[in-house]
Amino acid sequence: MINVALPKGRLGEKVYDMFARAGFECPSILENNRKLIFEGDKVCCFWVKPSDVAIYVERGAADVGVVGKDIILEYQPDVYEMLDLKLGACRMCVATKKDFHDDPEKTLRVATKFSRIARRYYAEKCRDIDIIHLNGSIELAPILGLSDVIVDIVETGKTLLENNLEPIETIVPISARLIANKAAYKFKTGEIGTLIRELNRQVNGND
Ligand code: PRP
Repeated sequence: MINVALPKGRLGEKVYDMFARAGFECPSILENNRKLIFEGDKVCCFWVKPSDVAIYVERGAADVGVVGKDIILEYQPDVYEMLDLKLGACRMCVATKKDFHDDPEKTLRVATKFSRIARRYYAEKCRDIDIIHLNGSIELAPILGLSDVIVDIVETGKTLLENNLEPIETIVPISARLIANKAAYKFKTGEIGTLIRELNRQVNGND
């Protein structure tokens, strides 16, 4: 039995479809109720807040899980990153107001949920920054003068557009990744290996 942490929401539903097609079904998950744990023959799946998936896997409460590359880069959990599922594609960007003019002599005020990613990105550019850590609605920060730029996820670009902001730099492309707990991978190599092989076949069409 493999314990699987699935990200709650639309991405998680797509991921579950992939698991089912891979032969790791858990039919009770399709029932419309508020349960969080579902048992199948080969897997036990549970819905987890997307940003918490890596914690469950790192600490062994789940053997495998699916998480955005953004979370992996931000929290750097001690897990194995096994496979790019090529779902939930988006990008981590720097965005700002359309009329913003950057003065490289000045400290850049950066609002973000992804402080580590932003810090690393500007450290590589040797740019002096001031991080303003927010938990959501990041787009408000430059509009209200709280920051000069934001570092955030852009999927369709609609949120930026509707708030008169524009992406100016792409930091990294993001997509959903299958991650595995290090000890579980050792003790359940056969089962987890089969799962990875079957998912890989769906994503890349080969082994
Ligand atoms: C994310 C991100 C942007 C939005 C981008 O927010 O932070 O706000 O999606 O999507 P778009 O390019 O398709 O418009 P999320 O919905 O995760 O909520 P948040 O504001 O709490 O970060």
